[in-house]
Amino acid sequence: MRPGLRLLRIARPYRGLLALGLLTTFLASLLDGIVLVLLVPLLKHLFGTAGELRSGSTQLEAMMHRLVEPLVAGLTPTEAAGRLVVLLVLGLLLKNVLSYASSQITVGVQEGLVRDLRTRMFSHLLTLELGYFQRIGTGSLVSWIITEVDQTKAVVTASLVALFRNVVVVGVTLVVLSQISLTLTLLTLVFVPPLVLVLQVLVRRLRLHARARAKERAEVTSTVAERVGAIRLIRSYGEEGRESARFAAQANRYRKRVIRTQRFSSLTGPITEVFSGFLVILIIWAGTRPELLGLAQPLAPEAIIVFLMAALRLTSPLKTISSFPALMAVALASAERVFEVLDQPSRETDRPGEGAARFEREIVFDAVSFRYGDGDPVLSEVSFTLPRGKVVALVGPSGAGKTTLADLLPRFHDPTGGRILMDSVPLTRLTRGSLRGLMSVVSQDTVLLNDTVFANIAYGSPGATEAQVEAAAEAASAAGFIAQLPDGYQTIVGERGARLSGGQRQRVAIARALLRDPPILILDEATSALDTASERLVQQAIDRLMAERTALVIAHRLATVRDADEIVVLDAGRVVQRGTHDELFRAGGLYRRLYDLQFRDEETTLAAGL
Ligand SMILES: Nc1ncnc2c1ncn2[C@@H]1O[C@H](COP(=O)(O)OP(=O)(O)OP(=O)(O)O)[C@@H](O)[C@H]1O
Ligand SMILES: [Mg+2]
Repeated sequence: MRPGLRLLRIARPYRGLLALGLLTTFLASLLDGIVLVLLVPLLKHLFGTAGELRSGSTQLEAMMHRLVEPLVAGLTPTEAAGRLVVLLVLGLLLKNVLSYASSQITVGVQEGLVRDLRTRMFSHLLTLELGYFQRIGTGSLVSWIITEVDQTKAVVTASLVALFRNVVVVGVTLVVLSQISLTLTLLTLVFVPPLVLVLQVLVRRLRLHARARAKERAEVTSTVAERVGAIRLIRSYGEEGRESARFAAQANRYRKRVIRTQRFSSLTGPITEVFSGFLVILIIWAGTRPELLGLAQPLAPEAIIVFLMAALRLTSPLKTISSFPALMAVALASAERVFEVLDQPSRETDRPGEGAARFEREIVFDAVSFRYGDGDPVLSEVSFTLPRGKVVALVGPSGAGKTTLADLLPRFHDPTGGRILMDSVPLTRLTRGSLRGLMSVVSQDTVLLNDTVFANIAYGSPGATEAQVEAAAEAASAAGFIAQLPDGYQTIVGERGARLSGGQRQRVAIARALLRDPPILILDEATSALDTASERLVQQAIDRLMAERTALVIAHRLATVRDADEIVVLDAGRVVQRGTHDELFRAGGLYRRLYDLQFRDEETTLAAGL
């Protein structure tokens, strides 16, 4: 469906409000016309030509004479003028009250629409596959949800309300004009096609730039988001200067684009004004030639004045009406982007045929293969079994596919070959929600939110009591350092937990996993080296976490590996060895080599009882 129509469908809940907005707009435009024509009798009274209608008066004059004279019958010309002025001012006031109401209503509609789109987009994003986020990037998504959505509201203001208002104004004005002189009106209208044509050319250019502008704006937002997040990196490598220059170049490109876009939209003002100038000359020239207009005598001055005022009123609505496609183009370009996100299939939602997960016996990886997109295989025919209550450790060189393999269990990705079975049911037949409810994931890079320690631990366990959170923190060896924080559990941890140390962050994450108390645990041990004291605290926390649980652990720590019921050694996406520590140690091979490289130092430390 076309984006404009889709937007209107989304705006459907606001149709009542919108109708009210259009009604007030209509009434305001109508009153505007009435105020204008009231000028005719007022001017007549001021010029002292009210009295009787002269022969050859315009239809407007005749009509106003019939309507207005009874109101001012028996008054002196000054009193009559005074009364008309009062009427005029009242009309003007009412018109502006209505205009105000209509713009408030419009704002209500458009902001409601923006909020709806924004919430929809955000909620929808949360249902998209991880790969989408990696492809699009944070900056673009932020820019789309914030800026692009904001631009789409022009569809409501520009299309419905502004278009409607201006069409009504043009209609009312044309009626007024034709009531004064049909010939003069037709002469005036000769100006319309060339004006609209010229404006159309501008609009086409404008549309071209609107898309490019949206893209460049997203780039700028992207850069800010990413580089601010990487401030430590920038600082430690002294890249501030180059980053500033890169950003300046980007900002400059955006500036040029905006100016280029503006060049065309700013031209509309001057062009219409020049047209108006010619129009005034034409009206005065033709208005004073009765033979041209087929009248017995020249138009009365007040008729010409009102005609001029009315005719000039045409240009602004015409300008808006003809720039309408441009505004729409910008808004629709943005809307397309919004719908691009909304149209991404929600791979995360439950499918028919998926049931609730139950875990009693074992998880079996059966010849599981995986590749990202259409890249090279990252996992090839990986098979092993994780029985309930046991710990399986994954070991292997960096890039072997350990994290990828662990991601398959909560269905962050689905295997591209083979199957993973939970109690003989393929994971793809289980709803993601129920599956993830069975497990806690402690990932390689700890993710904390910029909130309190308490909220971070209780994340994912909404009903958790204070006592439960504290017990989890205690078990995760985190209670000690939390007590030392300035506000204890209410301390804000900073963006991504920046105000905590690496080891502290890990223990908060472990407390979070413990609090959920799930049967299955997926632990991607952080590779970052910790000092011996934190290392031991983290290890204690891990031990408690794994106790009596089924665990898939990506192990970088000797203690974790040694206690595992089975070790699966991965190399370049293939299982190269399986067994217990003792078996693999004796067997030599990759495990032994990794062991020698990775764990030996640790062993001497452990042996020394540190
Ligand atoms: N989102 C992704 N898109 C494409 N390729 C990816 C993606 N994530 C990882 N890879 C690739 O998959 C391979 C396995 O990565 P993975 O993160 O699973 O390794 P790992 O064994 O966990 O390594 P480490 O011990 O360093 O954490 C790597 O070659 C990596 O380049
Ligand atoms: Mg990894």
